[in-house]
Amino acid sequence: MDILPEALDRNERLKALAPEVFNALSPLARRAFFPKGIPFQAGQASGCTINATIGQITDGFGNPLPLARMGELLSNLRPKDAFLYSPVQGRPKARQLWHEKLLKEDARMESVGLAAVTAGICHAISMAAELFFTPGDTLLLPDLYWDNYEQIFGIRLEGRFERYPFYPTDLSGFNVDGLREALATVQGKVHVLLNFPSNPSGYSPTPTELKAIAEVLTEAALNRAVIVYCDDAYHGLVFEKTATSKSLFFELIGRSPNLIALKCDGVTKELSFFGGRVGFLTFGTSKEAAEILVDKSMSLVRSGIGSPVGISQYLMEEELEDPRHDASFETMRQILERRYRILKDAVSKPTEQWTVYPFNAGCFCLLELRAGLNAEDIRQRLIKDESVGVVNQGDKHIRLAFCSITEEAIEPLVASLERVCEKTEARR
Ligand SMILES: Cc1ncc(COP(=O)(O)O)c(C=O)c1O
Repeated sequence: MDILPEALDRNERLKALAPEVFNALSPLARRAFFPKGIPFQAGQASGCTINATIGQITDGFGNPLPLARMGELLSNLRPKDAFLYSPVQGRPKARQLWHEKLLKEDARMESVGLAAVTAGICHAISMAAELFFTPGDTLLLPDLYWDNYEQIFGIRLEGRFERYPFYPTDLSGFNVDGLREALATVQGKVHVLLNFPSNPSGYSPTPTELKAIAEVLTEAALNRAVIVYCDDAYHGLVFEKTATSKSLFFELIGRSPNLIALKCDGVTKELSFFGGRVGFLTFGTSKEAAEILVDKSMSLVRSGIGSPVGISQYLMEEELEDPRHDASFETMRQILERRYRILKDAVSKPTEQWTVYPFNAGCFCLLELRAGLNAEDIRQRLIKDESVGVVNQGDKHIRLAFCSITEEAIEPLVASLERVCEKTEARR
């Protein structure tokens, strides 16, 4: 398909502002632009006395006409915020407040533009990938990762994967050398996905490791585009002083024009609002370049989900502005931390059945089962014999989600796992 003049205009402007970013765009991103269609025209007319633009049913004065039960259930909310469309790029206040939150976490956010709002974090990753990933491109992943990346980059985008061990052989932390070596195996443009705190390993790097990762990525970007997807889904859920609570994204801002950092985060885990479906895609470029990338994102949002969920953004705004917010988050973090400590003790007791990988954050811990045991087999037996649900990660690993069990259930969970492992014959 031809690239339309509106897209050409964005492309030319982006090329002038950030040629490396333009060159890294996927064919889809080069075609994408937010058209002067209905949402655009409705936005322009939003201050008019008579606004006959948008297909949104109102009383004629900009107020919704909610049906009885929903109106009743949401009667504490401002009807406009609860029932009307969100702008395609997200509600201005939601974008601003999220940016302020990140700015409070790190002053380097000052140079970065506002995020595009997405329908959850998975959507932010998927959209980031659609903008930069071309079928046949290579994604570097540690060997322990959220399985949905295969759907996004493999099934949807026909990518190739290169994997390196998440932990070094001595299990001393994150495998920075492994990342460096993996980068060296790929020629030209390369994509790197890093998810800290990690699902499934529950590991967040130390501040020193974080800086080393940033160095490695910067070195790798000397002569080619390195696109880094920072999946910060579990941001803030950190339980040890030695683990960083900072995002890798901050370390990558302004490091190299070839190093294109993309931050994918949102309310799902951080604000414990799983069904809310509010995510953010922040571009680690200049603000001017980010504006064009947000415009291209809006094309993808408009053609995919129409617009992001308005009511959830409103609820998020209220939460972030509430004076109790920080304390409320801390209460949730502490609940998780108590479970984390009990689980750490329980899985670290001497056993021949598994090795515990280092974990210090997030929602999970990962065990490598003793040689000969099959993780899928153990998972099935746990359901059948012990009425216990866990997740297998490949053939060797079992993931325990301490975020979703009580403190009291932790010892019995670990005891069940050990019992099932003990009575299972090694497979040949
Ligand atoms: C590592 C990781 N990234 C992203 C997500 C997706 O978050 P969301 O539910 O907001 O799409 C999850 C959800 O489990 C996750 O574990």
